[in-house]
Amino acid sequence: MCGIVGYIGKRGATELLIEGLHRLEYRGYDSAGVAVMNGNGVETRKAAGKIVNLEEALSANPVHGDLGIAHTRWATHGVPNECNAHPHIDCKGNVAVVHNGIIENANVLRAELQKHGHTFVSETDTEVIAHLIEEAFDGKLEDAVIEALWQIEGTYGIAVVSSLDPDKIVAARKGSPLLIGLGEGEYYVASDVSAILAQTREVVYLDDGDVAVLTRNGYTVLDQRAQQLERQVSKIDWDLDQIERGGFDHFMLKEIFEQPATIENCMRGRLLPEEGTSKLGGLNMTDDELLSIDNIVITACGTSWHSALIGEHMIEDLCRIPVEVEYASEFRYRNPIINERTLCIVISQSGETADTLAAMREAKQRGARTYGIVNVVGSTIARETDGGIYVHAGPEIGVASTKAFTSQVMALLLFTLKLGRLRSLGVIRGREIIEKMQELPKQIQEVLDRAPEIEKLADEFKDEVNFLYLGRGYNFPTALEGALKLKEISYIHAEGYPAAEMKHGPIALIDERMPVVFIAPHDSVFDKLMSNVQEVKARGGRVLAITSRAEPDLKGKADYEFQIPETIDLLTPILASVPLQLLAYYIAVKRGNNVDQPRNLAKSVTVE
Ligand code: AGP
Repeated sequence: MCGIVGYIGKRGATELLIEGLHRLEYRGYDSAGVAVMNGNGVETRKAAGKIVNLEEALSANPVHGDLGIAHTRWATHGVPNECNAHPHIDCKGNVAVVHNGIIENANVLRAELQKHGHTFVSETDTEVIAHLIEEAFDGKLEDAVIEALWQIEGTYGIAVVSSLDPDKIVAARKGSPLLIGLGEGEYYVASDVSAILAQTREVVYLDDGDVAVLTRNGYTVLDQRAQQLERQVSKIDWDLDQIERGGFDHFMLKEIFEQPATIENCMRGRLLPEEGTSKLGGLNMTDDELLSIDNIVITACGTSWHSALIGEHMIEDLCRIPVEVEYASEFRYRNPIINERTLCIVISQSGETADTLAAMREAKQRGARTYGIVNVVGSTIARETDGGIYVHAGPEIGVASTKAFTSQVMALLLFTLKLGRLRSLGVIRGREIIEKMQELPKQIQEVLDRAPEIEKLADEFKDEVNFLYLGRGYNFPTALEGALKLKEISYIHAEGYPAAEMKHGPIALIDERMPVVFIAPHDSVFDKLMSNVQEVKARGGRVLAITSRAEPDLKGKADYEFQIPETIDLLTPILASVPLQLLAYYIAVKRGNNVDQPRNLAKSVTVE
């Protein structure tokens, strides 16, 4: 996740900015930079990779001043390199901007500015802001920033400095957190209180639409008509460790609770509700090329393989094209049938998983076009696939994947809409699906609000030694994912199975010591699943049902029940996964495990 820190006062800005950036490292980033007013103008120093690279650039070519801004970048547009690192400047180097968020109309604005003679050097959406301010500047920096912001669609948290109006920092927020820190004759701006907690515990949280002007004599907060606003001063009593996890006990829990926002971000700017389809900037395939595809292979590992199975259902159901899902580790050593009409979709949160990377290269070598569904921008898989979509889930610190998984499913649905509407999917069905997609963030929040109910359930199951997770159709992969979540952080053995497979062996396992989790939303296979519930109950098994409404069928059958909001079949895996993530999390915590770094596991398996 990107990080912002700014300082204006009487001390050396560079050192304070670097210290603030170090405090933001935990959020994940891939490049960093500073802009400092050195008495003659704005000087920027930037570096790809870790902050230590930026420190080396600064020691080789120091910049001194008592006013500046800095940024750690988690790339969303443009690969993570020095050129794309923030701060970004205008044509003459008089304005420097750091930005968190996504500008949806950046391409349109860039084209207009280029028509007015502006030259761009980066691939980022952010650089547009510097040129808009340059274009609008007419004496006061805050006025130029406000004028620029009126033209922007999307989200931002920004900090701006300029040699044209050199004794101030202007900051603004819309959809991306930003706050001001209050010192003695010195002021700070930051995207996260951890960046400035070592300097001050008095902060002013900005609201969406606020524009803040910081000088050495104080600060003012304006609305976007430059009218002054009053904002409350808050006292921070958290310690740094708590802040880095956003007040949550673990990164995994924080990331589970981020899912309303991450699902929103995955859809942002990619839906065409009227046409009932999606727009995918990174597809890099014409409609004709897409239509020439007559088979799809999806390859991945672990949780990403589970989202692949859901994608298989979606694509075959809505696009009527054959899909094969392959474990990357198997695919790379088989002699798969691949040709130039094959599209190989490669799913990876990290974009660095060795088996998945090798499988992608094998598919490419055999003539397939490759399409990456990746979270980490600029990762190897993202760079080597012919096209792709970033899931925009932000850094996933917890080893057990949660928000990346649900965003992978969302990204697969965006692809399915695009391909389906070129083939046999009608506009009405496409619109219905999009309408249900847009309800998801709120529905996920409804589930999260009931997390205490799941924590109570965890007390019932924390000492078990085996679990079965059963589902059908779209929720067979959900069962696999629920089982993986539990086993990888609680170390309890858990298996996911197609519910109908029970009678072909696993039913021998059922007795009163075997808890069975049924993923049983009210979908097209609900009635079939009820007979599986009865099979388990008849043999003394204990049943926890994740279902979508109080059903007479379930009364007296399930020992425990958790209801998720109603939605269409293909979206039930996203909603049903949230209680399963929470169940695994709370059981693991109650067993005293290291939830964020479970034993034997790595966040990215970069070895075979
Ligand atoms: C999921 O919780 C695990 N951490 C693991 O299965 C992971 O999904 C797998 O290693 C694939 O990683 P990737 O998505 O980064 O390629």
